[in-house]
Parts: sequence; structure tokens; C-alpha cells
Amino acid sequence: MRKISLPLFFLLSFIIVSDVKAKENTAPLIPFPEKVEWLEGKFLLSNETGINVKSNELYRYFISKVNELTGLNFTLKYKPDLNNEVIIKIDSSLGGSNKEFYLLTVSEHIIEIASSFEEGLFRGMQTFFQLIPASVKTVKNGSTVDIPCCKITDKPAFKWRGLNLDCTRHFMTKEFIKQYVDILAYYKFNILHLHLTDDQGWRIEIKKYPKLSQVGSLRKETDGSLYGGYYTQYEIKEIIDYAKSRFITVVPEIEMPGHCLASLAAYPENSCTGGPFEVTNKWGVFNDVYCAGRDSTFYFLENILDEVMELFPGKYIHIGGDEVPKDRWKACPRCLARIKAEGLKNEEELQSYFVKRISEYLNSKGKDVIGWDEILQGGLAPGAVVESWQGMQGAIEAAKLKHYSICSPFAYTYLSNDIESLDLHLTYLYEPVPPGLPADEKKYILGGEASLWTEETLQNEVDGKLFPRLLALSEVFWTNSKNKDYEEFHSRVRKVYNDLTAVGIQYGQESKAISFSSSYNALRKEFMVNITLGQEEFIIHYTINGSEPDSTSAIYNAPVKIIKPSELKISAYMNGHFTGKKIDLLFDFHKAVNAKLTLTERYDDQYRACGDETLIDGIRGSNDFHDGLWQGFYGVDFEGIIDLGKEKNISEVIPRFLSDSNSWIFLPASVEISLSDDGKNYSDAKVIENDIPEKNPEILFKDYKASYDNRSARYIKVFAKSIKQCPAWHPAVGEKAWLFIDEIEVN
Ligand code: ACM
Ligand code: ZN
Repeated sequence: MRKISLPLFFLLSFIIVSDVKAKENTAPLIPFPEKVEWLEGKFLLSNETGINVKSNELYRYFISKVNELTGLNFTLKYKPDLNNEVIIKIDSSLGGSNKEFYLLTVSEHIIEIASSFEEGLFRGMQTFFQLIPASVKTVKNGSTVDIPCCKITDKPAFKWRGLNLDCTRHFMTKEFIKQYVDILAYYKFNILHLHLTDDQGWRIEIKKYPKLSQVGSLRKETDGSLYGGYYTQYEIKEIIDYAKSRFITVVPEIEMPGHCLASLAAYPENSCTGGPFEVTNKWGVFNDVYCAGRDSTFYFLENILDEVMELFPGKYIHIGGDEVPKDRWKACPRCLARIKAEGLKNEEELQSYFVKRISEYLNSKGKDVIGWDEILQGGLAPGAVVESWQGMQGAIEAAKLKHYSICSPFAYTYLSNDIESLDLHLTYLYEPVPPGLPADEKKYILGGEASLWTEETLQNEVDGKLFPRLLALSEVFWTNSKNKDYEEFHSRVRKVYNDLTAVGIQYGQESKAISFSSSYNALRKEFMVNITLGQEEFIIHYTINGSEPDSTSAIYNAPVKIIKPSELKISAYMNGHFTGKKIDLLFDFHKAVNAKLTLTERYDDQYRACGDETLIDGIRGSNDFHDGLWQGFYGVDFEGIIDLGKEKNISEVIPRFLSDSNSWIFLPASVEISLSDDGKNYSDAKVIENDIPEKNPEILFKDYKASYDNRSARYIKVFAKSIKQCPAWHPAVGEKAWLFIDEIEVN
């Protein structure tokens, strides 16, 4: 009975060991491919390996990249050796219409990358580069390099995967942009969007209008110094060609009709007032825009676009279109005459006239326009692509009109946002397809872009803003959302920090300065609070008696135990000084702590606080809705059902809501609280009306308290009626309103 024959025993142990080995034999691929099978064994890449690439250009690129990453020394001479060879080949039998689809197999003797198209081969090569161990990349010692055996099939979820670099507010050199082209290629982006013109600088040479670069590229800083820079057409071509050889399309953005002070400083005759103007050194939105009443403005822009189209071979020209104040147009006799002559209703329609007229011009040259979502105002031009930045609404509206869109909502994709409001985790949660979009409209979502606006960022600070969050967006745009898993992604990110260092990327933080997690031990009746820091150099000082921590307060070095109601105040210090980063946590041992909470509508990921248990975690939010404790619900009512696990005597139920109308956060009109023993039949409903005026600029919170006399129940339902839309008196009238709640206290 207990005897096991030797061969079977051996076989079993072999299988188990091999499984473990295969698991260890992996690489941290970002973005994660569609399908990966890790196998046992390694391919030993060395100078003796034959490299067999049919396309000359890809051959040169491949070996120079492998040499650079490994320190090996491949030459262009091909040495056939079917026992030790890398084969990169077009295989039209693979078929498929997706040009980026590729297969990558690594066995102990042969590595093969195959695709029907060169584009797919190129993407597959990037996956191969990521199979090279980080230790080798960092040291570049070049003896033999172990490549883990695997079988990968891959293609992208979205065909538009971009990075928008603002080189106007702060200039980036041509060399720097080319380095970023390589970085983008490595993470499988395929679009580089260059924001080339704005109020603070004109950055592209236009031969017909030399003052655009002579005058428009320079601004006088407040200290009197001159700041500037621009790309000659020769340099632009160099960037475009470099990107093209890496299967990246460069999309130029030439802003109109707003964000054009630098252009007006050079040629003030294109404005409503005639100027004069200066290239501004301030950030913001400015009233002086191109005059829509003068035909000469359109001829000027068409001549510029002629040169731009000559340079940029792609199908799309981005014409901005965002943030256009209408003040000048309202007071300009030419603009008013245009409105009349064209039968337009108002200045919004004049904006649409402007965009349509330019779009028609570009269409006549075989190009299509992209514009920020304001181009929806007054109707879309035929073929226009909407880049949805204010949220996802622009993409949804575009899809309804059967127009394509690029999804770049600022809350998730503006990597200029600081890490406190957009951390790695939130970036990763972004989904370019809006929930609820009908299936036949999904095809209009081309993909998305990360944006780096550079008001606050100099060239040498770009890495720290983009990384590591750009890794999250690489996966958001490439990886099928079914395969996304933050914890698993995060473990890969941890492993690629060495890769980033190896190529000189000075990455920044992945999470906010201070994060916390807390767990409650019901048996011991105590909370354990765990604090993590966004920056290694920070030292945390904390107190639990309500006093403000200073540099003499306790230093955090292990989870803090909370055994009675208290206020835990946490402050981050660096080099003995308070950094300004702090959080306050108010602990309350009420009856619903550790209960089960079911939400009818999901909270918005931007304000998810600590996730599903936030509202019954025993920790209260401060009056700062950004503090990571408030949970936000966008444009929907709130309904939560608490299951206490068993019947408990209930005297009070107190959900707390926040009001901050300047941030579109409103108190619920009313809250209904009811109780149940079986989770089906609810009774004892109490309705608490809001008694605080809606039009209230103060930040405050309100407890919607229901009191009970001697009532025991297991289930508690809290229903809060949202006002859903910002009211008529509010600047954002008609936009969705927020409902913010933290903690449903049960006594
Ligand atoms: C934008 O952020 N104004 C496109
Ligand atoms: Zn005008």
C-alpha cells in the first residue's frame, strides 16, 4: 500500500521541481503580453549565437540594442547555427490584420520572433529585450546571458498608445526627445504627441513666418533672463525619422484658436485687437486668441499647416482647440460680422466654425484633425478625432456621433499631476473604454495618451514625473483589461527599477508621501496601523494624544497599536524638518467596525479611499476631501447595507457626508436609514433631510443621525439621495455632482 515504485516517485519529484523552476524562470514584462507560458530551461545568448534577421534595418537595430543592453559584441556577420540561433522573421502564414501581433518563442536552442509585419517583429523585439535579466543590463558584462524559455503570443488592446510632451512651457532638446522615443518603444507606445505651440513659446521653425521662432520662441522670465528654444525643420525631420524607425508616429500639435500668445507676439495682426503682445511667462488661460473674423488669420494658419503637413507624414494633425475664452470675439466687430454672415448662434458656434474651416482645409490635403474635447462645442467637423481630457464625456459623445476618440482624462493620464492626487495604483486602474459604452461604439475608442504638461517641470525633472506611472499607462493601453492585476503588476514594477536605472531614468515616487492601512482585531479590540512612505528619506513622527507631532515625538518604525478612541497624527520629516505632509486619523470603536458592507453603486476610483471597507473601518476623514479617507460617488445616489454578522442592540446610526461646493461636492438632499433582521424586510425607516443651504461655499460635514430606542437588528440600510447634478447657481451647472461620505458610525 505505502510503497511507491521508484520510477513513479522520480517522475513525481521531477514534475514538482520543474514547475517551481519554470515559475522562477520568468521576466518582469511590461506591458504584460496577451498570453505567456513560462517554460523550464534557458537559452544561453553569447557572441557565438547566430542572429538571423531578414530585414537589414531591423538587423542593425536589433544587434546594436542587444549589444547595448548586454555588453555582448554581435557584428553584422551572420553565422548560421541551428543549435544556437535567434531568428526574426516575417511569417505571412500567421495572417491577421493586426500589424502589431507577434509570436516569441524561446527554447534552449532557438529563439524565434515571428509576425506577418515588421511592426509586429519590432514589438516582439522589445519583449525579447525585456527577457534580458536586469542584472545583466545594469552590469553589461557580456559573457553569456540567460534568456528564460517561454512562449508568448501578443497584440495590443488599443491601437493608439501615446505620450504627449509639452515642449512649450519648458523646452526639451532634440537629443532628449530621441531618448524618449527609445523609452516609448521599449514600453510599446506607438505615438509621440508633441505640443509645439502655446502662449509661452512657439517651438517649430516655419520658413514662411520666421518671426514665429525668432520672436515667438523666446520669453522674458520675471528675473529679466530670456528663456527659449525651438526645433528647426531639419531637427523635426530627424526626430520623425528616428521615431519612424521605431514604429512610432509623431503627431504635431499646433494650437488654435486659443493658447496662441507666442504666435500673436510675432504676428499681432492675427488677433482681434491688433496687440501688441508678449510671449508670456505666466501659466494659465489668456483672453487674446486668433481673430476668427479675419480671413487673413486663416490664410496664415493654412500656410503654417502646409509646412507642418510637409514635415509630418502621419494622417493626423492636432489643432488643440482647448480653453478658448470668448471675450475678445464678443467685442470684435470682425468676429461679430462673421457670426452674422455665417448665420451662427453665438461664439461657441464661431469656435466650431473656426475648427471646421481649418479641418476642411486639412481634409482637402488628405489629413484628419485631432482636437481636445472642446472641439465638440457647436458641432464636430467631419472626420475629427476628439481627445477627451476633461473626463470621459468627450469620448462618449464622440462615439455617439460615430467619431473616433483618444482618451486622456486628466484625472488618470496627466502625469504632471502630483503623486498625492494620482499615484501608481490609481493610474493603473484607468480603463480607456468608458463603462456602459454600447458594444458597437467601443470601436471608436482608439486608445489613450499620457500627458506631461511642463509648467512645473524642467527637462531634467521629466523622468521623475513620468516614471514609474508611465509603466502603468503602458499596460493600460496595451494589455487586455482581463489580464490586469495591480498587485502582480506592482511586483513587476519593483523588478524593473534596475532596468530604469540602467538606462539612466531617474524615476520618482510611486505612491503618496504617507499611506496607511489599518486592521481591527475584534478579539483583542485593537487597531493595528501600518504606515508606508513614498520616499525613503522620510522619517515619520507621530502622536496619539491629539497634539501636533514635532521632531521630538515618537518615531514610527513598527505598526502602531490603538486600544482606545484616539487621534493618530502622523507627520513626515526630512533632515529634521517637517515636509508639510501629514495625515490625521480619528479612531472610533463603534459597532459596525469589521462588519460587512455591500454597496449598490461603486465608488469612483479617483476617491476610493481605502476601498470596500472604508466606511466601516473605524477611521474618520478630516475636512480635506483629498485626505484619502473620504469615499466619492459621482453623479449617483449612495446605498450601503451593513451586515453586523449577528443581531446587535442599536441606538444610533450616523453616516457623515461632506460639503465642498467649490469642488462640486454636495450634501445629500436626504438620507433614509432602515433596519432589518433578515436582510430582506426593512422597517423603522428614518428620513433625515438636509437642513444646510446648498449654496454654501464653506467646507463642512454633516452627520445624518438616526436614533433608535431599544431596537436590535442585524442589517442596516443607508440610502442617501444625491442632488446628482451641479445646481443652476453653480459655475458647473448640469455637470455631475459628487457625494462624499466617510464612516457610518453605529452605536
Ligand atoms: C488641456 O489640458 N487643456 C488639454
Ligand atoms: Zn476678432
